[in-house]
Amino acid sequence: MTKPSFYITTPIYYPSDNLHIGHAYCTTIADSIARYRRAAGYEVFFLTGSDEHGQKIQRKAEEKGVTPLQYVDAIVANFRLLWEKLGISNDDFVRTSEERHEKVVQAIMQKIYDQGDIYKKNYEGLYCVPCESYWLERQLTQGNCPDCGRPVEKMQEESYFFKLSKYQDSLLRHIEENPDFIQPASRRNEMINFIKQGLEDLCITRTTFDWGIKVPFDDKHVVYVWFDALLNYFTGIGYGADEEKFKKFWPASLHLVGKEIVRFHTVIWPIMLMAMGVELPKQVYGHGWLVVEGDKMSKSKGNVIDPLSLIDEFGADAIRYFLLREINMGSDGNFSRDALIIRTNADLANDLGNLLHRTVSMIEKYHGGVVHKKAAAEEIDAGLAALTEQTVRDYREAMDRLEINAAIKAVWALISRTNKYIDETGPWLLAKDAAKAERLEAVMYNLAEVLRIVSILIQPFVPRTSPKIFAQLGLAANGAFLLQDAVWGGLADGTRVAKGEPIYPRIEINEEGLTVNAPTKKTAEGAGAREASKEEAPCAEMPEIIIEDFAKIDLRVATILTAARVPKTDKLMKLTVKIGEEERTIVSGIAQHYTEEELAGRNVIVIANLKAAKLRGIESRGMLLAASDGEGRLVLADAPGIASGSKVK
Ligand code: ME8
Ligand code: MG
Repeated sequence: MTKPSFYITTPIYYPSDNLHIGHAYCTTIADSIARYRRAAGYEVFFLTGSDEHGQKIQRKAEEKGVTPLQYVDAIVANFRLLWEKLGISNDDFVRTSEERHEKVVQAIMQKIYDQGDIYKKNYEGLYCVPCESYWLERQLTQGNCPDCGRPVEKMQEESYFFKLSKYQDSLLRHIEENPDFIQPASRRNEMINFIKQGLEDLCITRTTFDWGIKVPFDDKHVVYVWFDALLNYFTGIGYGADEEKFKKFWPASLHLVGKEIVRFHTVIWPIMLMAMGVELPKQVYGHGWLVVEGDKMSKSKGNVIDPLSLIDEFGADAIRYFLLREINMGSDGNFSRDALIIRTNADLANDLGNLLHRTVSMIEKYHGGVVHKKAAAEEIDAGLAALTEQTVRDYREAMDRLEINAAIKAVWALISRTNKYIDETGPWLLAKDAAKAERLEAVMYNLAEVLRIVSILIQPFVPRTSPKIFAQLGLAANGAFLLQDAVWGGLADGTRVAKGEPIYPRIEINEEGLTVNAPTKKTAEGAGAREASKEEAPCAEMPEIIIEDFAKIDLRVATILTAARVPKTDKLMKLTVKIGEEERTIVSGIAQHYTEEELAGRNVIVIANLKAAKLRGIESRGMLLAASDGEGRLVLADAPGIASGSKVK
C-alpha cells in the first residue's frame, strides 16, 4: 500500500542576519507537524531553506566588504547549525543561490512570459529596500513603508510586470470556495478584503542591483525576490528535475508562514500557479508573532533572543516544548525566560520526569526490573487504559486541526492522571502483602504501558526525550515512533527496564542569575498520606515539588481563641482562630488528642488558603498542621511567641 503524502514548508528565511527565536518558533511548529504526520503513516516531505537574493543582502555584503555569496554562506551555515541543534527533521534545504533553483525560476519565468502574463513597462515608484516592495503614495504611513515603518526611496526602472489583476476574480472564487485554503479564519477574512480592494499588476524584475537570478529573456534584469523565493517550494520537490517526486508531493499540504507574509503566499503565489496551470497548495497557515516579555523583538531594543545560546542553556527539547505548549499558533505569543523555566520544571522535570522515575524505580525494586504483562483487572485499571486510548484519539484530532497545544494538554492530563494512579493504588502497600503480588504486577505494567504510549505521542514535540524514555523502559526506538503502536497492551511481557539519569533535571537560577540544572533527588513511588493508602509512604519516596508549588501554600501562625467539641463526633473540634486581624472557623480532627482547655490560647500553624469545606454542617476555612508521634497521637505544630498572622516560609 502506498502511503499518503504530506508536503509541509516553512518560509525560507533571509540570511541578512542570524535567526532569532521567532524563526525557531515557526520551524519548530513545522517540525512537530512533519514528525506527527510521519508517525501517522504519511510519506512526508518537510522543506526549509534560505532566501538569499535582493538588494538588502547585497548592501549588507557591501558594508562588510565581501561578496553577497560570501556574506550569506556564513549565515546560512548558522541556519543549518541551528536546525540541527533544535532537532529539526527537514528533508531538504533550498538555498535560492543554488543552480537547481535558478533553473526552476528561469524556466517558470520564461513559461509565464511566453504564455502572455508578463509584460514590459516603464515604472516609477516608492521602494522599501528592506521589504523589497514598491508602494503607492497613498499606501504609505506617514511617508514610510506601511509594513516596516522605514523610509522608502524613489526608484525608476523599466520593468516587467506580472498580470495579477487578470486572475483576481478566479483567486477570490478559489478562496471563497475553499475555506481551508487560508487559515486561521481571521487571516482569510483579511485576505478576502485585501483582494476585493483590487489587485494591481506586480513589478517582478529589477535593474537597480544585480544580486539575483537573471531574467531569461532580458539579462539586464534580475527577478524580484518574492517571485524567486516562492518558487523554492517547487525546487525542493524536484520541479523539472524529478517529475515523480514533484507529482508525489505537489500540491503542498501546508505552507506554514508568519502572518505578515500571508499576502505573498495567498495572492502572488497562487496567481503564479494559476498562470502556470498548476494546482494551488491545500493550505497556507499564518501563525502569530512571538514577542519577548510583551515587546516586539528588535535589534534597536536589544531584546533579540538568540536560539542557539538558549539551546545551550536549557536544551532543545525544553525550548521546543515551551514554544509548542505555551503559544496558541493562531495568535501572538509571549516568550519569557521565567515562563520557560516554570514550564520545564513543572511539566517535564516534575510531571513527566517523576512518573518515569517512580515507575522505573518501583519495577526495579519490586520486580528486579522486569515488567510482567497483566490484563487490566480492576476498574481503576480499565479507567486508565480507556483514558490512554481516548487521549490518543483527542491528540490526533487536535494535531489534525493544528491545535498543537491542545494535543499537548491532552497528553499531560494523562500523565497527571497516571501520577495519581500511583498514589491511589499505593504500590508500597501492595508490596508488603504476598496476596497482592499479582495486583502489584498489574499496576507496574499499567504504568510502563502509559509511559510507552506517552513517549510515542510526545515524540513530535520533544524528539530527543522520547528515545530516552524508551531506553529506560527497555524498548528499542529504531527511530520510529508510530501511532499505530500507540495501542493499549502493546508492551511485551518480560520487558526489562533500566533506570537512567533524570530526563529533565530541574532548572534553578543561582545567585548570579545563572541557570543550573539541579540533579533531581532520589524520589520513588510514594505520594503520601492520602485517603486511599492510609499508611504513609517513606519520605524519600514522595514526588518532588518545585518552589512554585510550595509558594501556593499560605502557611500562617494562628492564635486559637476558642475550642469546642463538635457534638456527636469523637474527633472533631470546632476552633475559632485569629490570623492577624482576621477571625475564622476551622474544624480540626484533634478532639481525641487535646482538650478544649489545652487548645484555647495556643499559637499554631495553619494552611490559611485551603479551599473552604463543610464538616458536619460547619464551614471550615483552613487546616491545622500536626504530626503523628508514631504511637497514634497527634501533636500540633506550635508557634509559641510568634505573632498571629506571621507567614511561615
Ligand atoms: O519573510 N515571531 O523571511 P524572514 C514568529 N524570506 N515568527 C517569526 C518572527 C516572530 N517574532 N519573526 C520571524 C521572509 N518569524 C522571506 C520569506 S518565503 C517564500 C520567503 C518567522 O527572514 C515567521 O514565520 O523575514 C515569518 O513569516 C518569517 O520568520 C519571516 O522570515
Ligand atoms: Mg520579515
